[in-house]
Amino acid sequence: MKALAARRQDRRAPIVLLLLALLLTGGLYAVLAPTSAGAATVKADASDIANGEKLFQANCATCHGPSAAGTESGPSLIGVGAAAVDFQVGTGRMPAQMNGPQIQEKPVQFEQEQINELAAYVASLGEGPAIPTAEMVDPTLGDAANGMSIFRTNCAMCHNAVGAGGALSQGKFAPKLWDTTPTHIYEAMLTGPQSMPVFNDANITPEEKRDVIAFIDQQGGASPGGLTLGALGPVSEGLWAWVVGLGLLIGAAVWIGAKSS
Ligand code: HEC
Ligand code: HEC
Repeated sequence: MKALAARRQDRRAPIVLLLLALLLTGGLYAVLAPTSAGAATVKADASDIANGEKLFQANCATCHGPSAAGTESGPSLIGVGAAAVDFQVGTGRMPAQMNGPQIQEKPVQFEQEQINELAAYVASLGEGPAIPTAEMVDPTLGDAANGMSIFRTNCAMCHNAVGAGGALSQGKFAPKLWDTTPTHIYEAMLTGPQSMPVFNDANITPEEKRDVIAFIDQQGGASPGGLTLGALGPVSEGLWAWVVGLGLLIGAAVWIGAKSS
């Protein structure tokens, strides 16, 4: 104990303590951090499909029909694939509620495991796009520069050049993409929800989809130029120059005039 007490006086003690604390936090985080949900491809076995069917009958069949073949209130889901279910339920769009110009995102109502079961059930009804693997959507493996040019050609007219979102006709809108998970971005391209077109693998290859994800991943953070001024481009910057810049010039002119007279 004496040795320990002596060491406590050492000037290096705080540094050692700090390092130990950092190590502990890092270690705990690595153990406790949630693994990215839904990134794994669904390995469907018979019990998943059976559970998924039960969930489907209870939550989805009123609109999509007891055999998912569709009703007046919802389209057929045969052949839409696991990816469409993971996207629609995982972003809180499904189960849909009120009718409006566009089905809205709501708080997600199911655990990822239940979503996987629902997806397994729908996928068992007919061949369709599967949920992408973690590697297919990993932004660090994509080429953001190439992703930018693909995004500007295919997505920017609706979602804005940096993915900030924008209004469409008839009360519809293309959402902001900065908070969407990589898996959901991939699935949106693959399945084309509501007024968004489908970008199949012939159109934008899986590697290019990952490049697009890498590009979106780099947007929406801190603005390198300081204040974003709403990221509206020359409009807000021009307004700032006119109101503040010209105001200052006029103020200076008046002040000089008042001094000389
Ligand atoms: C209130 C009615 C309603 C309920 C309940 C509902 N849906 Fe839907 N669903 C719709 C409608 C309407 C659409 C079509 C949206 C569009 O594309 O315009 C749709 C679309 C979908 C799609 C997209 C299909 C495609 O072509 O990509 C999936 C997948 C889906 N629903 C799954 C589900 C699941 C799973 C549930 C249950 C958890 C569910 N839905 C509950 C009405 C409903
Ligand atoms: C014609 C306009 C249009 C184009 C082009 C378009 N989108 Fe969309 N996108 C939409 C609309 C509308 C929605 C909302 C659909 C819904 O709510 O079901 C959407 C939804 C999304 C979502 C879901 C966002 C979320 O948070 O839930 C993602 C991700 C997305 N788009 C990515 C893309 C990418 C990437 C491209 C280009 C490869 C693209 N979109 C091209 C109109 C478009």
